[in-house]
Amino acid sequence: MQVLGIDIGGSGIKGAPVETETGALLAERFRIPTPDPAKPKAVAKVVAEIVTHFDWHGPVGCGFPAVVRSGVTLSAANVHKKWIGTNAEALLTEVTGCPVRMLNDADAAGMAEMAFGAGRARQGTVLLITIGTGIGTAVFVDGKLVPNTEFGHIEIGGVDAEWRASDAARQRERLSWKVWAGRFNQYLQVMEKLLSPDLIILGGGVVKKYEKFLPLLSTQAEIVPAQFLNEAGIVGAALAAL
Ligand code: BGC
Repeated sequence: MQVLGIDIGGSGIKGAPVETETGALLAERFRIPTPDPAKPKAVAKVVAEIVTHFDWHGPVGCGFPAVVRSGVTLSAANVHKKWIGTNAEALLTEVTGCPVRMLNDADAAGMAEMAFGAGRARQGTVLLITIGTGIGTAVFVDGKLVPNTEFGHIEIGGVDAEWRASDAARQRERLSWKVWAGRFNQYLQVMEKLLSPDLIILGGGVVKKYEKFLPLLSTQAEIVPAQFLNEAGIVGAALAAL
């Protein structure tokens, strides 16, 4: 089946039609900068532009960096506070004229990795962590998603984990790979203590440079980079709309 996958991020909103049987993009992805301020109506307008760009009339799946339950966005760590309590699925369905399914962005990336990437055919507990502006998490048990885990906000030493260990923190504080990996390792240790995952998959833009930090991490679980780079959010969002 063909579904338009859209990934709403802090700096860009990206979309492409996806063949959900294979996870392949059917056209080059189209990106529009995220409006500032990124209030629901302004973002919805951009999503509608992406739908128009592909002349799309079918189902749409959309990843969003917040808790999403039954189509309603319920948190706003790195997005405009106006999203809290917005029925995002209803809003996007109305502006695009297409049936829209919305889910958390890390959950979307995890669905793509589990179906076609580093988590393919993996049983047990799989933890996917996306490292970017925030830290996003997706947990799968025997291939089934436990949605909206939000483990990027676990407090370590009284501080929100993503504030110290995200890629944004690395850049903001100009941390060396070694110092940043030390912080991220501490985060992984907490996650292992809580979840005992069988496999940890690391995703997000920084994973392009995984040779710089993966050797500095020590976990009990097997730890691997994601296989999809920029496209996991788009592909997973499309899968969620099935
Ligand atoms: C948000 C999550 C999101 C993650 C990655 C966090 O700040 O709370 O919902 O998945 O960032 O974008």
